[in-house]
Amino acid sequence: MSAVDPVGPGAAVDLSARLVAPAGPVDLTGAVLTASGCAAAGRELDPYLDLTALGGVVTKTIMRDPRSGRPTPRMAETPSGMLNSIGLQGPGVASFLATDLPWLARRGARAVVSVAGEDVGEFVEVATAVRDATSGGGELGAPGTDGGVLAAVEVNISCPNVANRGLVFACDPGTAADVVSAVRAATDPRVPVLAKLSPDVTDIVAIAASVLAAGADGLVMVNTLLGVAIDVDRAAPVLSRVTGGLSGPAIRPVAVRCIWQVTAAMRAGLLPTAPVVGVGGVRTGRDAAELVLAGAAAVQVGTVTFGDPSAPARVQAELAGWAAARGATSLSQLVGAAHDAVRSGGHA
Ligand SMILES: Cc1cc2nc3c(=O)[nH]c(=O)nc-3n(C[C@H](O)[C@H](O)[C@H](O)COP(=O)(O)O)c2cc1C
Repeated sequence: MSAVDPVGPGAAVDLSARLVAPAGPVDLTGAVLTASGCAAAGRELDPYLDLTALGGVVTKTIMRDPRSGRPTPRMAETPSGMLNSIGLQGPGVASFLATDLPWLARRGARAVVSVAGEDVGEFVEVATAVRDATSGGGELGAPGTDGGVLAAVEVNISCPNVANRGLVFACDPGTAADVVSAVRAATDPRVPVLAKLSPDVTDIVAIAASVLAAGADGLVMVNTLLGVAIDVDRAAPVLSRVTGGLSGPAIRPVAVRCIWQVTAAMRAGLLPTAPVVGVGGVRTGRDAAELVLAGAAAVQVGTVTFGDPSAPARVQAELAGWAAARGATSLSQLVGAAHDAVRSGGHA
């Protein structure tokens, strides 16, 4: 597969997306990013696309210690989707900071580093290690700045809290807020902290309100939905640990719904306004446009990348073409625009 040239009919459209850290704004030069867990730390995608043209590479969630993840089988195909129960396999934060992040810096890409922990203390340890490795400048550059590799920290709260009977942090407004405020406090003020939310909650607006009040500088929606697949010939679950996260086109309407509800609450003044990064089931520029029209300022591309490693660049070029065809000079003019169509009762 060949690399996709992002320069095309939509090249005149400004695709930059602004995040705002406590110390000031951080501009992502592209509106499309990889999604965590679907492109490791970017190296595997490098032959297929220009990583520097993307808004950023969101790295696989990193935890304190090396982890081998769950036993196989840990992936299953489902109609228009995929179930995975990888179990946050990874090299641990020290190895990540010694090899993966410097590689991204040398490549000239920008990284959004996804962090997690089994309890609040581990989240803080990982965030602190990221801060300590990046705040000195050097080959990693100054964090949050144009020349720096670290564009943002993404807090993956869709993992079990071992200190609270395995309750997923993202499913409880209190623990979600505890994690976000602790990571915010441990992160360089020049770096935005984004909270990645789970759609598996009764009231996504309540969770959004809680993490924003705790200091999140933006939201990423959504992580996978919990699912189960059963092999009817073996009369047994397909995945070794039974449940897995559902991703791919099947979940796009859920992602659009979550982005819609949170954006509507922001527009109604019920939540502080903050940038939303959309993720879930995006395969094309038109899919990404749906998330943008619902309220996403930037979009991540995940599962489709396994079949088409150039997808993030292709989606970005297609999104630019779509925005240009709508007469926009900047993607930001279209962010949340579908809400206006509802308010005015029309279908623009
Ligand atoms: C194999 C696989 C591994 C994933 N690993 C992570 C992860 O480590 N951290 C995370 O926040 N999300 C992870 N996700 C979720 C994706 O980042 C994304 O939120 C979700 O898959 C929906 O987007 P998509 O439909 O474009 O894949 C993973 C998804 C898949 C398919």
